[in-house]
Amino acid sequence: MKVKILFLLILVSKKLKVTAITIECLYGSTHWWQSDETYKECKVKNVMIFDGSQVNIEDVQDSNHSNWDNNQINAIHIETAPNMYYFPSGMKTVFKNLIQIAITGSKLVKIKNKDLEVFPELKNLYLNSNAIEFIVGPLFKFNLELEIIDLSYNKISLYDYRTFEQLPKLRFLDLRENICKYLSFEITREKVIEMVQNMEKNYCQIAPNNFNDEYY
Ligand SMILES: *[C@@H]1O[C@H](CO)[C@@H](O)[C@H](O)[C@H]1NC(C)=O
Repeated sequence: MKVKILFLLILVSKKLKVTAITIECLYGSTHWWQSDETYKECKVKNVMIFDGSQVNIEDVQDSNHSNWDNNQINAIHIETAPNMYYFPSGMKTVFKNLIQIAITGSKLVKIKNKDLEVFPELKNLYLNSNAIEFIVGPLFKFNLELEIIDLSYNKISLYDYRTFEQLPKLRFLDLRENICKYLSFEITREKVIEMVQNMEKNYCQIAPNNFNDEYY
């Protein structure tokens, strides 16, 4: 009996493993591809602190010693983090007004709608050059302000056109260089709608209806 309980405890604690980290920000102004606006960005400097577990960003250090106010930061960029497999939590706690999130050249495998739930005002999401495998179900259901989504250079083999169909303002969508080879990119609202409608007709694997429940 004791052994069983111990085993259970280990299982439970393993599942909940979240590592609290403090990021270092290089603050600067930034203007990304296709974006309308220039944002005040925190570029995360100490990317080695991502250790493969899900991390929770608890605190921020100012690498520039420039005293920028984190409440005015509206963009974050995490670049080439070699051990970042999961979308970090806690960003909303330290930066209350994020409109752009960029995690690029890292190892993100998965992204869930729960990860994005706290960002209803998010407009730009750049996740290019990671290892994301599936884009299915109501992934962006909490992010109806999204205008820009870049998922190019990932490993997407399974997608669901309905995931993008739900976004009334999406005007830039880049799905190039994934396992679904024919996927392309478009830069106007009209063309994005057309592309999403055409996805349905294409041959790449479409998520079965019950897939969503398992995945989320
Ligand atoms: C912080 O440092 C970066 C990189 O050196 C630089 O581009 C940026 O302008 C600096 N930001 C401030 C607010 O000084």
